[in-house]
Amino acid sequence: MFANISLPASDEIIDLMARSSKDERPFKVDLTVGVYKDTNDNVVLMKAVKKADQQLANEGRNKGYIGSKGDLEYVQLLQELAFANQTVNGYVSGIQTAGGSGGLRAILDLIKLANPQAKIWVSNPTYANHIPTIVAAGLAYEEYPFIDDKTMMLDESGLFNTLEKLGVDDVVLLHGSCHNPSGLRLTLQHWEQIAQLSKSTNFLPLIDTAYQGFADGLNEDAVGLITIANKVDRLALCVSCSKNFGLYSDRVGAAYILSPTQEEANKAQSQLAIMSKATYWVPPSNGAEIVKTIFKTPELKKMWSDELTQINSKIKGIREKLCAAFRQYSGDNYFDYILSQEGMFSMLPATAEQMEILRDKYAIYGLNNGRINLASIHEEHIDYLVESVLSVTRINK
Ligand SMILES: Cc1ncc(COP(=O)(O)O)c(C=O)c1O
Repeated sequence: MFANISLPASDEIIDLMARSSKDERPFKVDLTVGVYKDTNDNVVLMKAVKKADQQLANEGRNKGYIGSKGDLEYVQLLQELAFANQTVNGYVSGIQTAGGSGGLRAILDLIKLANPQAKIWVSNPTYANHIPTIVAAGLAYEEYPFIDDKTMMLDESGLFNTLEKLGVDDVVLLHGSCHNPSGLRLTLQHWEQIAQLSKSTNFLPLIDTAYQGFADGLNEDAVGLITIANKVDRLALCVSCSKNFGLYSDRVGAAYILSPTQEEANKAQSQLAIMSKATYWVPPSNGAEIVKTIFKTPELKKMWSDELTQINSKIKGIREKLCAAFRQYSGDNYFDYILSQEGMFSMLPATAEQMEILRDKYAIYGLNNGRINLASIHEEHIDYLVESVLSVTRINK
C-alpha cells in the first residue's frame, strides 16, 4: 500500500529548530520559531492561564466528549472577543476547532463543498501552512502581491489591482492583524478599500485572526475584521488562541461564518461541524475551558489582557531599539520599515542564500524568506545582529 509513496519535503521551521539547538556557538541568535518566549528562552505560561488551569483542576473537570460543534458558550465568548464586542449586520455562527489551523481547514472544506471551483488567494508571502492546507482541501490557490521586496513596504497597487479583478468564485485569505511573515500593517483605509472591493466584486473575505492583541490592543486589532463585516454579506473567520493565550499545544481555536440569514448561518455551522467530525470527531476541550474561564472571571480577564499588553509593549520596544541600531550602523533609515510594522514578525531584505550565510557564518537563525521573530531578540543581541545583517544583506539595497 505505502511502498511507492514519496517522502514529503521536510518542514523548514522544524529543521531549523533542530539545527539551531545543536549549534553551540555562544553568540547564537535563534529567531526562527513563531512563539513568544521570555528572556530565558522559555515559552511563556501566562499567569491567568496558569490560574484558570489550576482552578479547573481543583474543581475536578471531567474529560467527557463535547459535541462536534464544541462548547458553544466558548464559541460565543471568543466571537465577542474577535469582533471586539461589536454587533455586525447579519448572523454569525461558529464552531470550536483544534487551533486556528483546524478552523481554517473546516472553512476550506466548507468552501469546497459550496463551490469546488473556488480559488483561494493568499498574500505573497503568507504563513507557511496556508498553501498546504488549501491544497489538502483540494482547492486551487493563487498569490496576490503584498510586500514590495525592494522597500519591504506594502505593494499597494499590486494588491488592489489584483483584488479588483476578482469575482464570486474567489476567496481572499487575509491576516486579521500582525501579518505572518511580514509584519506589514494594513491601515483602516486599506481595510475599507478591501471591504469595498469585496462588496463590489463579490469575492469572499476569509480572515485568519491569529495574533489579536499583538498589534495595537485587543479591540484595536479587530478593526479590519469589523470594517469588512460591516460592509459585506458574507465572510469566513478562523481564530487562534495559540499566541495570545500562549496555548500552543492545547489546540484552541474557532471557525465562524457571517451569513445574511439565520437559516444560512445555521446550515453553515452544521456543515462546519460535519467537517471537523470527519477529521477528529470532537475538538480538544482543555484549552477552550481555560479560555472560557478567563473570559468569565473578570479578575483573570484583566490579568490576561494586562500581560498581553506587556508582551506587546516589549515587542514594540524591540522594534524601536532594532531600528535605532540599524540607523546608527547603516547611516540611513532604510530599516525604518520595521518600526511601521506590527506583531512578532518582520522580514530581512535577504535572499535564501543570504539567510543561509547568516546561519552558517554568524549563527543567526531566521527563515529562508527572511522572516525573523522579533520577540526572541534580547537587547544584548541587537548590535551583533544588526552588524551581521548589514554585512550580509547590504548588497540587496
Ligand atoms: C497566520 C497564522 N494563522 C494560523 C496559525 C496557526 O494557529 P494554530 O496554532 O492555532 O493552529 C499561525 C501560527 O503560526 C499563523 O501565523
